Amino acid sequence: MEIREGLTFDDVLLVPKYSDVTTRSQTNLSTKLSRNISLNIPFISANMDTVSEASMAVAMARAGGIGIIHRFLTIQEESAQVLKVKRSSSVVIENPYTISMNSTVRKAYDYADDMGVSGLLVLDDDNRLVGIVTDRDFLFCGDNDLRVSDIMTKDVVTTPPGTTAEDAKRMLRDNRVEKLPIVDSDGYVRGLFTSKDITNMENYPMAVKDAKGRPMVGAAVGVKGDFMERAEALLEAEVDVLVVDIAHGHSQNAIRTVKNIKKAFPDCEIIAGNVATAAGTLDLIRAGVDAVKVGVGSGSICITRVITGSGVPQLTAVMDCARVGKENDIPIISDGGTRTSGDATKALAAGASTVMLGSILGGTDESPGTVLTKNNKRYKVYRGMASLAASIGRKSKETGMTALEDDLNDYVAEGVEAMVPYKGSVTDILKQLTGGVRSGLSYCGAHTISAMQQESEFIKISRAGLAESQPHDVSVM
Ligand code: XMP
Repeated sequence: MEIREGLTFDDVLLVPKYSDVTTRSQTNLSTKLSRNISLNIPFISANMDTVSEASMAVAMARAGGIGIIHRFLTIQEESAQVLKVKRSSSVVIENPYTISMNSTVRKAYDYADDMGVSGLLVLDDDNRLVGIVTDRDFLFCGDNDLRVSDIMTKDVVTTPPGTTAEDAKRMLRDNRVEKLPIVDSDGYVRGLFTSKDITNMENYPMAVKDAKGRPMVGAAVGVKGDFMERAEALLEAEVDVLVVDIAHGHSQNAIRTVKNIKKAFPDCEIIAGNVATAAGTLDLIRAGVDAVKVGVGSGSICITRVITGSGVPQLTAVMDCARVGKENDIPIISDGGTRTSGDATKALAAGASTVMLGSILGGTDESPGTVLTKNNKRYKVYRGMASLAASIGRKSKETGMTALEDDLNDYVAEGVEAMVPYKGSVTDILKQLTGGVRSGLSYCGAHTISAMQQESEFIKISRAGLAESQPHDVSVM
């Protein structure tokens, strides 16, 4: 049997090339996520329960990337996360939350709180707009048993259907209001502009948006049980891309799932993985995927290679898969093992169009979970989705019970539970990563990711070369 060599990020460096890039702003990081979706930065948050829920997905999309909501939720919960992302900002909110004028203040307050909004439009018995009730009205109300009609603002500034975002911005400013309902000539609500959304449009120029101006978001489905029902619910919630998520993506289960989803929903965008070989990539492409996720055993919390002996070092996996991806015009996602912007640059130079991140994003404000303190340092929990801890969490979420001991004895974990340092806002992390990748492009003499893929040259390094690449012979402060 012939044994091939497999390399990963630390085994190589990118050889510096003549560059006419004089500032990092001359580089362009836009790239393809999948056949029909483009991103403005090449980063995706991993579909893991300690990384990606709505808050992460909103931040990723605002920065120009995308977040993939994990699937270890009920179908309703996962769809609700997608809706939350979609509602976080849009040019126009199509179906704003409303309340009857006859409801109690308590009911209105609870509803607004549950939906995470600062105000509700108030309707009469014929569903016509009669007022608006906001945080401020709740705050100074004093008696929660009053009717909404007792505390609402009746003089609502409205605008007709067809109003542009520019006109809405002017009206919000001139009237010093935060919400501008769109109301037709019969008095029915047709949408809502908010000052928050208009400001968001200006504050996040790199944001990745759908046709309705809302943040793009992906969501994962498995390959067993409820996956068709889940896919349908997520598409109903207008998810932009589905990720068929299975540890061994070069499998009958994964291929069957992709084919079934594509058959039922031919227009939906599907990413599938994970694979680590050219053959795996080709089989998924033949099944109809729009992007392939690459990485087996490369993740920071993975023990797949330890437990099963299987995997391919990530750089070689990306290079092998990207070759087939390129031949078929299907983008490749490098998933797992990215620790630095240098690793991300190498993955992109090796042919990946985007990079999926887990541990780098696990310790941020936007990842689910609370901040823990140990020895005066702050951390967040980050765990493999095939870890024992994630498996127990999953079982108890599904059944409402803790897993039985014999279940646990049968379970062979392929991931570990860990802690990652708390890092603050994901926006700052992404700034560091994109800044590093932009510099990486410049060292390769490239203005774009695709130019870097054509022009870059790797050099294999020795252990001494790796040691030389880190800070050495100094005490780092
Ligand atoms: P990083 O290195 O960014 O990797 O933390 C994130 C990726 O790791 C994969 N993942 C797992 N792999 N066992 C595995 O073998 C697990 O329990 C596990 N959980 C996540 C996944 O591809 C993720 O995007």
